[in-house]
Amino acid sequence: NEKSKSVDTRLGEICELLKSNVPYYDWVGFYFKNGDKHELKLGPYAGAPTDHTIIPFGKGICGQVALSNQNFVVPDVSAQDNYIACSITVKAEIVVPLFVNGENVGQIDIDSNTPDPFSEVDERFLEFINQEVAKIL
Ligand code: SME
Repeated sequence: NEKSKSVDTRLGEICELLKSNVPYYDWVGFYFKNGDKHELKLGPYAGAPTDHTIIPFGKGICGQVALSNQNFVVPDVSAQDNYIACSITVKAEIVVPLFVNGENVGQIDIDSNTPDPFSEVDERFLEFINQEVAKIL
């Protein structure tokens, strides 16, 4: 419908804006919980296309955040055993859950080709972005 089209357009623009303005944000995307299927579905993103358009709850960094409701900062993806590699160039990842009325409905996921680039500043910033996104969903 018209509304979801415009939300996707705006989310895509947010992804592009983040990717092009933060040098160590190399892939930026939103995943959303897919109905009651216990899986995440890829939404708008900026960066290289990924094969991982569906991620079961519990799988990878994203799937873990779907269950934990907590930020997950990964300074070195090679040190993670429950990790889904999207690209061999990725060194680090941050996933911040997106809450609507206190419910975890999805997440913003950022991959970096720079080792250990993410700090609490990124966490607070992405929490703010998600709070703003929650208002337009
Ligand atoms: N690395 C993620 C999968 C999504 S891609 O980064 C786009 C994970 O382990 O969940």
